[in-house]
Amino acid sequence: MSNYCISQKPNKGLRGAITIPSDKSISHRSLIFAAQTGGRVKISNFSFGADCRATLEIIKNLGCEVNFIDERTLILNAPKNFSAPKNTLDCGNSGTSMRLLSGMLSSQDFTSTLVGDASLSKRPMKRVIEPLSLMGAKIKSDNFRAPLEIEGTKLKPIQYKSPIASAQVKSCILLAGVNTQGKTTVWEDTLSRDHSERMFKYLEAQIQTGKDENGFFTTIEKSQLVPKNIEIAGDISSAAFFMVMAAIVPDSEIIIKNVGLNPTRTGILDVFDKMGVNYEILDKKTISNEKTGDIKVSYSPDIKGCEISGDIIPRLIDELPIIAILASCASGETIVKDAADLRNKESDRISALSQGLIKIGVQIDEKPDGFIIYGNKKGLKGNCEVETHLDHRLAMSYFVAGLVCNNPVKVNDFVWINTSFPEFLPLFEEISR
Ligand code: S3P
Repeated sequence: MSNYCISQKPNKGLRGAITIPSDKSISHRSLIFAAQTGGRVKISNFSFGADCRATLEIIKNLGCEVNFIDERTLILNAPKNFSAPKNTLDCGNSGTSMRLLSGMLSSQDFTSTLVGDASLSKRPMKRVIEPLSLMGAKIKSDNFRAPLEIEGTKLKPIQYKSPIASAQVKSCILLAGVNTQGKTTVWEDTLSRDHSERMFKYLEAQIQTGKDENGFFTTIEKSQLVPKNIEIAGDISSAAFFMVMAAIVPDSEIIIKNVGLNPTRTGILDVFDKMGVNYEILDKKTISNEKTGDIKVSYSPDIKGCEISGDIIPRLIDELPIIAILASCASGETIVKDAADLRNKESDRISALSQGLIKIGVQIDEKPDGFIIYGNKKGLKGNCEVETHLDHRLAMSYFVAGLVCNNPVKVNDFVWINTSFPEFLPLFEEISR
């Protein structure tokens, strides 16, 4: 793939039915959890973006044997105990790999070092180092940033109220807790994505979830996970780019098949309801304890701005860049608040997005915890070059913006889309033929 991509108005509406890559969050977890079953697990519809491949290589480095049946299906044979890795464990661009694996590695009987690329090495790790240290973990870091050198040790359980609603923090603690005698409990004020809790239940861990006066809680005890086959649905965070394309490009109608519809991930559908996007959910199912369905979205000429704040934020945190593009084409203002953690993603998504959208011709006010977008239904100016800041979701959001600009948009460093969605351009070609 060349280093940049030019995006421009298509000649006609986007149409067709597509299958998008499988859920990244669940793919990471499928490997990390299966690796702890001590048995054989078949994983179907695995995500082959660079992020999940990083987790795959790490799991292999710890002694798991992985064989591919076809390009989306693998068999993982987990050892009874992990072996000490021979090299540093490279998480690449993936915060999920680093934060979840730090929990799992803290309770092993060897030392391991997690490293990451330039973007990941700038991201905050205090959020996992702090609770793990309370459990007795021995972690050396570069001022709470990667590399993380983890000297495995026997941990003690904790009762921890997380200061942020983060599924990575929650999952990290649960992965340490599942290998620790006693009851480990983590609370959060707002429920973040619950794929770990669902997968632990599916693999028969001793786990309870609920809500009490301290917030949403999950309690886990030392458990032997049971090897069971795991099937993964499509990623709603990847689907979101195509959902928004269909909503804003005139005369479009797209069906995205087999998309994960876990309620902790579907905040974007609530925003569609508020903004007046035309969509339908078809063929609902449950696979490996997760809800799925087909999402049909059609061109929505009457979209209007709305406020997005409070409890919904963790349910759409990764979709905010593409929701910003939707808001740019709506009538009226869209106000995004309570999303300060967007600054800690693959890039500072509030500042980077504001810079990019201003170039594209969007009127946007950057705020400490979000932004305000003043929508423009007459089409955006375009005629600019935008930077992806090592961030796959910004790259794809700008591409979608280019489809409704009056002049082309050049997206530099477009290769970053490979982090989560290497199939993005071929799928776009399929619906624009
Ligand atoms: C993820 C959780 C979210 C999300 C990230 C994936 C996960 O991060 O932004 O892309 O798989 O647990 P936080 O937990 O930091 O909010």
